[in-house]
Amino acid sequence: MCGIVGYVGPDSCPEILLEGLRRLEYRGYDSAGIAIFEDSATRILRSEGKLNNLSALLDEKQLSGTVGIGHTRWATHGRPTEQNAHPHKYGRATVVHNGIIENHAQLRAQLLERGHEFSSETDTEIVAHLVDESISKDATPLDAVRQALMQVEGAYAICVLVDGADDTIIVARKDAPLILGIGEGENYVASDIPAILNRTRQMVFLEDGDLAVVKAGSCRVLDLDGNTMERQSEKILWDAVMAEKGGYKHFMLKEIHEQPRAVTDTIRDRLSPAEGDAYIDGFDVDPSTLKRVVIVACGTSYHAAIVGKFLVEGMARIPVEVDLASEYRYRDPLVDEGDLLVTISQSGETADTLAAMREAKKKGARVLSICNVVGSTIARESDGVLYTHAGPEIGVASTKAFTTQLSALVLLGIHLGRRTGKLSGDDARELIHDLLQIPEQMKEVLDHSASINVIARRYANARDFLYLGRGINYPIALEGALKLKEISYIHAEGYAAGEMKHGPIALIDEDLPVVVIAPLGSGYEKIINNLTEVRAREGMVIAVASRGDPDIGEIVDDVIQIPHIRPELQPLLTVLPLQMLAYRVADIRGTDVDQPRNLAKSVTVE
Ligand code: F6R
Repeated sequence: MCGIVGYVGPDSCPEILLEGLRRLEYRGYDSAGIAIFEDSATRILRSEGKLNNLSALLDEKQLSGTVGIGHTRWATHGRPTEQNAHPHKYGRATVVHNGIIENHAQLRAQLLERGHEFSSETDTEIVAHLVDESISKDATPLDAVRQALMQVEGAYAICVLVDGADDTIIVARKDAPLILGIGEGENYVASDIPAILNRTRQMVFLEDGDLAVVKAGSCRVLDLDGNTMERQSEKILWDAVMAEKGGYKHFMLKEIHEQPRAVTDTIRDRLSPAEGDAYIDGFDVDPSTLKRVVIVACGTSYHAAIVGKFLVEGMARIPVEVDLASEYRYRDPLVDEGDLLVTISQSGETADTLAAMREAKKKGARVLSICNVVGSTIARESDGVLYTHAGPEIGVASTKAFTTQLSALVLLGIHLGRRTGKLSGDDARELIHDLLQIPEQMKEVLDHSASINVIARRYANARDFLYLGRGINYPIALEGALKLKEISYIHAEGYAAGEMKHGPIALIDEDLPVVVIAPLGSGYEKIINNLTEVRAREGMVIAVASRGDPDIGEIVDDVIQIPHIRPELQPLLTVLPLQMLAYRVADIRGTDVDQPRNLAKSVTVE
């Protein structure tokens, strides 16, 4: 959730670091800082808040140098203040860090006993103290970092500068992403590809336990014991423009409009319309041993997981359990070898999802991940990966990652259904035919979303919203509510419509907008009953309904139409108006849509 960038080379470093941090700002943004070697010792600038503050400080203080590191922070230990911003320096060691040092309290107490004084509340500062302590005992910078990391428990992506060693950045990773960017006579470090994609496309993905000595002309990778490790570089083909706003007011809006392309990229080449089958590269399932599917994820990805239950159970007739990764990891889950664990994660770095996956693996489950980030930790540790090809998602609120996850789950349902024999060739062919129409239908929904602006203006000052859905659209009600609350800060609840009478009906009055997902298909009559109950209590109803539904317009305040499609594929369309509604409401209210308060894009801590 924090961002790291580093540079060693011939060029002036402050601009490179600032530009890299700007590209990483979405990962965490309560404070930022840089450290640059000047005359063999580091100089540090840090500021609270947005990067513009750091940039202004830099204009004022004029740092220069060609080797340095930078960081954007999302607070975990200690408040978001300038003092707690990275880099942290103690003695000769300067450190930036993503992750959490779990034994920080114990290490801090020991260091205090040995006479150290701390200038921040962070866990990170401890590493600077430990490194400096080893250097005082004549360790080389590399050995000092190794010795420090051997004392540290927890997760880290870390960069260290040591005064006197002004041609070098020492970096290391464990349970937090870190990559090296390889240039000509210059090298980079970053927590995330977009930070340095404009400078180089050749990258090395460090693995857990790796440490690297980065100089302008070389990158040497070692393990913590000092043994050399071979790591190949990969060429990253992502288009840099894909990571920019492309003319839209916000990344989120751009990403909403990218969904037809993203879904096409995700399903393309994995479907055989003629054979009625879907393929997952490099991952085979033996239907005779597969007894259960368990899907774990967090947040929006968890909502995709619930849709996945409907899809996989419906097509493959295999029992599917869905769990929040943060709960699963702590309940000593029952796992056996007949289980397939499916993790869903946009970033591939979510700490809870990663821990849940490791727990299940330890107990013998095979793991298939649905993931958007190539080379991410979850992807690398899975037995198989079904990559969603959403491209980089920069808006903190997940949109295109969600619909690509849904389409990957349709592929999984078809794949498993064909292998268990519960989905006939004819049914699969029809389903694939309909799935292939989805990107065009998504485009149609997005192109005709002007009415949502009017609805958004009408309800933008509401205090609460209620979202109702049934069956496969129930998780879409959850997702619609999550989207609205995270970017507009309006309180919103998602409910299974049938549950309304068991409690939330008490909320309904003339001030409560209720968004009802009511496409034609199974459960339609039931949801119309629920909707009538809302109307009877003066609630205002906004319906997402099928084009061609002749009646619904008569009984609701507003209708947003979507094409009429089969239930299995409805979530791919019903979620679009809800994303748009959340976006428009937030934009009207003037919130920071792409970087909502208190949130970060990738939650790499518990
Ligand atoms: C909401 C959102 C979050 C993420 C969640 C999991 O819009 O983006 O709820 O879905 O933090 O993240 P990933 O999918 O990266 O594991």
